[in-house]
Amino acid sequence: MNTSSIFKLFISIFISFLIFTTGANAWELQWYGQSAVKITTPGEKIILIDPFITGNPKTPEALKDLKKLGKIDLILLTHAHGDHIGDMASIAELSGAKVALNADMGHTLGTLGVLPYDQMIRFNKGGPIQPLPGITITMVHAEHSSDYLYTDAAGKKTVYPGGEPSGFIIELENGYKIYNAGDTGVFADMQFISDYYSPDLALLPIGGHFTMDPVHAAHAVKTYLKTANIIPVHYGTFSLLKGTPEEFKNALSSFPVNVIIMKPGEIKIFN
Ligand code: NI
Ligand code: MN
Repeated sequence: MNTSSIFKLFISIFISFLIFTTGANAWELQWYGQSAVKITTPGEKIILIDPFITGNPKTPEALKDLKKLGKIDLILLTHAHGDHIGDMASIAELSGAKVALNADMGHTLGTLGVLPYDQMIRFNKGGPIQPLPGITITMVHAEHSSDYLYTDAAGKKTVYPGGEPSGFIIELENGYKIYNAGDTGVFADMQFISDYYSPDLALLPIGGHFTMDPVHAAHAVKTYLKTANIIPVHYGTFSLLKGTPEEFKNALSSFPVNVIIMKPGEIKIFN
């Protein structure tokens, strides 16, 4: 082997290493503000969670054109509140994406004609589903509520049951596990979620008033979850959601977790 072929061999090993470490496993998370996130999985599947976009004061204007969302493979709803259901019906119609949601919320949306039954994956807490090849989703408990405020064509508002509120454990094709807590207060079964699913990343609400505030969210992390990576969400969107990521970091003090603070619209790449 001459010097040049050794060099070529070295380069090809290096490129394979790069593909191995960044390519095959890489996936993306984009935050739209509040709890709305878009996940691009290692297998290039697009999952939208709680797509509150056009009415979201924190979503950058450039991201509010739903037609520009492009391919969507799955929409996930944690519960039926307006800042989570958001633009689900329009996006489902535009994209044809299936919507995975609590079975009871499904009945409410189905019987009202908000979402066609054949576009739903109605499920419930505890039993994993595989809505896309290699992707496993488990609905887990959340300490919250879930009514559905429906406005009919004449503008009359009626409240319907939205089923149980939930969080999700989302396992990607590469085994990476995301715990999306949804809207929640602290609950001791976060210990079960940590022990049983061992998530790599948790999205936690920190705004307070309707969910955990920064001090409660830090308690959840330190006492129960101990998840290595945390993205704080559900803060600053409305004046009532006063909690800030800085308060969350202060409350965590020296606890060894990686707090990832995102700007609305920002994309973060994970491996
Ligand atoms: Ni809520
Ligand atoms: Mn909410």
